[in-house]
Amino acid sequence: MQFPLNRPANLAVFASGRGSNLDAILQAFPQGHKIARVAMVMSDNADAGALEKAKQRAIPNYTFPFPARKKDENGQGRKAFEVEAEKYLQAQRIDLICLAGFMRLFSPEFNERWQGRMLNIHPSLLPDFKGLQPQRQALEAGVTEAGCTVHFVDAGVDTGPIILQKRVPVLPDDTEESLSARILVQEHLAYPEAIHLILMGKARFEAVL
Ligand code: GRF
Repeated sequence: MQFPLNRPANLAVFASGRGSNLDAILQAFPQGHKIARVAMVMSDNADAGALEKAKQRAIPNYTFPFPARKKDENGQGRKAFEVEAEKYLQAQRIDLICLAGFMRLFSPEFNERWQGRMLNIHPSLLPDFKGLQPQRQALEAGVTEAGCTVHFVDAGVDTGPIILQKRVPVLPDDTEESLSARILVQEHLAYPEAIHLILMGKARFEAVL
């Protein structure tokens, strides 16, 4: 599939938690928008705030367990989630998956199938501070600048081609909470912008134009 499409793209947002990035995407692409619409929300966590936000707007939403890697030695739990997710992704004719605080890693097969059509947002200036608690990592490293990155998902963790980044200063009295809040404001601008770039055909997995 090639972007741009000659119709609104169907987005799937995957989220494990609060869902503020989902909110930002919904505000940028409200129902009836000519470029994109959020066609489904999927979570591994029945208590995710993101699911509540989807329900309030009558957006199809699905929950299916996805065990942590340590508790899923043979990967059967992950496989089951992916089979279930794929069923909904096909049913809703999804063009682009947006991971927004989704706390699980997919199999190489799933990543491969969605290559160029699956994005993630990470609250650091990648390639710095991959993985968990990047804001705390930034404070511990003593950097003076932090930010967020929207990138295509590839086989690694927080490693795929970068679409865009937004920067914020780290202030001397910052805590993990204050820095996270400053970065989050930028995340809410960055994610819709990145989606827009992809859907306009201006950013591709092979080459961010
Ligand atoms: C965001 O900081 C995102 O970058 C990270 O997880 C957090 C999710 O927040 N991957 P929310 O659920 O979108 O509010």
